[in-house]
Amino acid sequence: MARVVILSGAGISAESGISTFRDEDGLWENHKIEEVCTNGCLNRFREKTIKFYDMLRVGLKTKEPNYAHKIVAKLKNRYPDNISVITQNIDDLFEKANCKDVVHLHGFLKELRCENCGDILNIKYKEQFEKYENCPNCDSLLRPNIVFFGDPAPKYQDMYDELLNCEVLVVIGTSGAVINTDMFLNPKIKLSILNNLKPSRYINDRLYTKVLYTKASLAIDEIAKDIEEYLSEKY
Ligand code: APR
Repeated sequence: MARVVILSGAGISAESGISTFRDEDGLWENHKIEEVCTNGCLNRFREKTIKFYDMLRVGLKTKEPNYAHKIVAKLKNRYPDNISVITQNIDDLFEKANCKDVVHLHGFLKELRCENCGDILNIKYKEQFEKYENCPNCDSLLRPNIVFFGDPAPKYQDMYDELLNCEVLVVIGTSGAVINTDMFLNPKIKLSILNNLKPSRYINDRLYTKVLYTKASLAIDEIAKDIEEYLSEKY
């Protein structure tokens, strides 16, 4: 169980050219959550849903990790047992930065999942529509391996487990609209750092030890220094 949890959202991938969800021109400005990201949307809007994630998946091929991903990956690889990297993001930019053991709470864009047997199929950056309809294992329908609103989110338990021993919580690039990180703050957490572009109405920034309202790529060196100082003092 890591002592440092780095929990990120769409903001950490924004500088790599991946849209966030709720910022100006965010994905939810141009797409309806109920049509492409809500439990049951595959029954009512199957083609629209599958084509939405096809668009994101194909676009991911040319996206590169930015400086923030790379520094997080370096920290994780330097302190594999003391740092846990947990993200709400479905992109593979941490993996492209060679970050190990990333926990994806909301699924992984490159993967499809069988709606019946749960088998996972990695189709890299390809389109699913009319190409990957049925499960190779049981022939049932495949779906994007993404957690829609109202879907079960099995990886949340991993996050809660990691937070049990957490002494340093670093929050990067999330509005808190889905996971309100304030609720994780408790006396065991000695250092909490919040990095977003600007204040979010979902997050009470006065609860955090340090708040950095700037781009993740500009905040990450200071965050890394604080983490290393904490770990070197303590362990
Ligand atoms: N550096 C740091 N933070 C940034 C940057 C940047 N370059 N650009 C934007 N941000 C911050 C914004 O200030 C905002 O607080 O990232 C946050 C993005 O918030 P959202 O768009 O709400 O994304 P996120 O919090 O990850 O959404 C949570 O909602 O739609 C669902 O499943 C989806 O995982 C997603 C979840």
